[in-house]
Amino acid sequence: MRLSGAEVIDGGAAARLTWEVGGTARFHALWLRDNALDAETRSPRNGQRLVTILDIPAAPVIADLAVTADGALRVRFAPDGAGADGKSVEFPAAWLYARRYDRPIDCRPGRVDEGVETFDAALSGAVTRADFVEISADRGALAAWLAGVRRHGVAILAGVPREPGSVCRVAELFGYVRETNYGRLFDVRAEVNPTNLAYTNLGLQAHTDNPYRDPVPTLQLLMCLENSVEGGLSTVVDGFRIAERLRDESPALFEALTSFPARFEYAGEGGVRLASRRPVIELAPDGRLQAIRFNNRSAAAVTDVPFDDMPRYYAALRRFAEILEDPAMAVSFRLSPGELFIVDNTRVLHARTAFSGSGERWLQGCYADKDGLLSTLAAIEEDAA
Ligand code: FE2
Repeated sequence: MRLSGAEVIDGGAAARLTWEVGGTARFHALWLRDNALDAETRSPRNGQRLVTILDIPAAPVIADLAVTADGALRVRFAPDGAGADGKSVEFPAAWLYARRYDRPIDCRPGRVDEGVETFDAALSGAVTRADFVEISADRGALAAWLAGVRRHGVAILAGVPREPGSVCRVAELFGYVRETNYGRLFDVRAEVNPTNLAYTNLGLQAHTDNPYRDPVPTLQLLMCLENSVEGGLSTVVDGFRIAERLRDESPALFEALTSFPARFEYAGEGGVRLASRRPVIELAPDGRLQAIRFNNRSAAAVTDVPFDDMPRYYAALRRFAEILEDPAMAVSFRLSPGELFIVDNTRVLHARTAFSGSGERWLQGCYADKDGLLSTLAAIEEDAA
């Protein structure tokens, strides 16, 4: 990629660039100076910054611009009198193109990141699937499976060795197991005196796990070791799709769940008193959907909603739950021994139907984190590019 033009504008406070592929964008002199790629500003070894905001001039001025023979941008800054500047730096055309910020920015609340696709029941039968042996041996196959998690927030894996602890081996293919008070991994099977309602044969409403932690575990993996019961289907629902529907139906209800904190607690075992105060629908500062927290078992009394807003808050919570229960939203599957599903726990809610007392249902789960998964995926993609 090459630049076809570069001009100084605003008296040297900014530049306007044009690319051969088409497109024009302005960049501030300050932004260019801050993001200089030279060896005094960034370590050539690891790419980390060597300067702070205080090391660069508050109002640098571009003295001149040139497009180099290979289509890159050369910027020469005017000396600032302190002797620190007056430097020349170069930027590859593609580097600037990928980082242009002078463009219409979508500010609608409740939108999703690029590359994320919300789903409903239409995804049934089309959830990303892979085989454990294959993704263990082939980085490309691993990337394809991880990309399914990035896109839909859920994926299934078959062929996992049917032995206790295998679920952690899957997490270790892309990141690290996140240990909690439930241990490095936890068993999900019917128990006599359960510390958690998950360890019964009751159906469980779709939920995100552990909203009482801050930060929450951002991935959950659940692996099937035995499943000979009647019922006990696994179901996933995209919380981001619920949020989109709620926003489109009623901005006022959507706003209630994004702007007031909910409270979540867990105190089911000795020595553990977990509590958090976070919204059911969390937005990033620019309005993007960031996280869903929804779990009827660990919901605590909400005390951060003003008296006059509480009825609207409850109406919003009820509507969220109604959309969640809509069969048009759910993707269900039956896990067989040796199969596992992974969910983005900041987004996708999971549930199971009730199951009968005869037969055995034994799952093992563990938590991991999405930053590690996305990092591994990005590294593989970069190597392949
Ligand atoms: Fe769960």
